[in-house]
Amino acid sequence: MKVDVLLGLQWGDEGKGKIVDVLTPRYDIVARFQGGPNAGHTIEFEGKKFVLHTIPSGIFIKKSINVIGNGVIIDPFILRSEINKLTDGGVEVGKNLLVSRKAHLIMPTHRLLDAVYEQAKGKDKIGSTLKGIGPTYTDKVSRSGLRVGDAESGEFEKRYQKARKRYLGIIRQFDTDINEFVFEGYKFEEYEQQWMNALGTLKSLEKINSEYFLNNALAEGKKILAEGAQGTMLDIDFGSYPFVTSSNTTSAGVCNGLGIPPSKIGKVFGIFKAYCTRVGSGPFPTELFDAEGAELRKTGNEFGATTGRPRRCGWLDLPALKYAIMLNGVTDLIMMKADVLNAFDKINVGVNYNVNGDTSTEVPFEFSMEGTDFKPVYKSFNGWKQELSEIKEYSQFPKALAEYIKFIENETNVPLKIISIGPDRSETIEAPLK
Ligand code: GDP
Ligand code: IMO
Ligand code: MG
Repeated sequence: MKVDVLLGLQWGDEGKGKIVDVLTPRYDIVARFQGGPNAGHTIEFEGKKFVLHTIPSGIFIKKSINVIGNGVIIDPFILRSEINKLTDGGVEVGKNLLVSRKAHLIMPTHRLLDAVYEQAKGKDKIGSTLKGIGPTYTDKVSRSGLRVGDAESGEFEKRYQKARKRYLGIIRQFDTDINEFVFEGYKFEEYEQQWMNALGTLKSLEKINSEYFLNNALAEGKKILAEGAQGTMLDIDFGSYPFVTSSNTTSAGVCNGLGIPPSKIGKVFGIFKAYCTRVGSGPFPTELFDAEGAELRKTGNEFGATTGRPRRCGWLDLPALKYAIMLNGVTDLIMMKADVLNAFDKINVGVNYNVNGDTSTEVPFEFSMEGTDFKPVYKSFNGWKQELSEIKEYSQFPKALAEYIKFIENETNVPLKIISIGPDRSETIEAPLK
């Protein structure tokens, strides 16, 4: 057996949570491999809506096992509130949630550092979700982080206090009052207290050596789906650096985030919106600043699932999509939110870029450089101008939508296997099997 992967091809929020939930009945195990509570994955069914930050989106399907892999970073406070919300909503969380001992912990001081660094960056700020992502991954790489497994050692308190002292020392170099910052409604020291209490919940969950667990499961013929967070254009190596997150969001991240060898990667589902969004700072070539952008935001309800911030909206960016498909080795495409374009007369797609007067079909290095004259060149399509809510199968798509799909398949050379026409689990149209 191999591990199939589902990941975002744009700047995050493509609809990964919804599709992982749709695909979960076909798998035994769903595993998150990177990122942390900067993610906000929305799942809607039977009139209920849940937003997950750390827990894999397979949790709603009974019998599925959900693994938080070693590549994920965990804030016990946020994890506890996720578990509480699920339990309140009638979703069972117990033996169906397993946590890697090697996953790193986001400490309150990491969140504090994130906030202080962002404030110090002023107008150059990344637009971070302020969940402590950058500082926690920095500590992992600099070999000074604390891991889930460490919480059980007798040395934990000593190591925690040592790390805390070091971070507070760094923060003192900034001209800032730490009581200015509020975390989940608490000032720093109150939040720290809450965090310590929540560590008890994390300790009560079943902890595993996830690399062994997952490889043994494969050997036993179990089917695994790896769930990505963020999107390819936010990847630490290949995204619009420095306006990125701090992990590898691409399929390579599955290998080191779960301990899966490259030869064991199967299908790669690449998911994208029929248009584009981005939340936070950084380049976005096809961004719309006009009424059409506002219309996409309103119809698509484009407000962050984690921070509530309005998302920047624009047309589909084909060079960026092809770049993401190349980097991830995408085998199956999934297009989300087709319904958001229902009312548009014309739909544009950025087909290449004009960079300082030259045409480029690639995402150039200059992508993130200030002062580059960088413009997308558009191809225009007729809108379908009709509701899609009654559609039950591929053959019923309006002609203009079918043409839009064909164009993307021809350009990318990858089949579009699923089209999503609404936020609910049921509003999902699969291509007929060939
Ligand atoms: P994720 O981070 O990739 O899981 O995506 P988010 O949950 O952050 O954002 C996707 C948003 O779009 C959520 O509010 C979903 O409920 C919603 N959504 C997903 N698919 C569709 C769709 O096909 N149509 C519409 N209108 N909304 C969708
Ligand atoms: P999901 O999994 C959209 C963005 C932030 C910011 C940058 C760095 O829901 O798709 P960080 O908190 O990681 O330091 O922020 O990355 N970002 C996301 N944007 N969806 C996400 O996750 C994101 N996670 C981080 O807005 O621009
Ligand atoms: Mg999201």
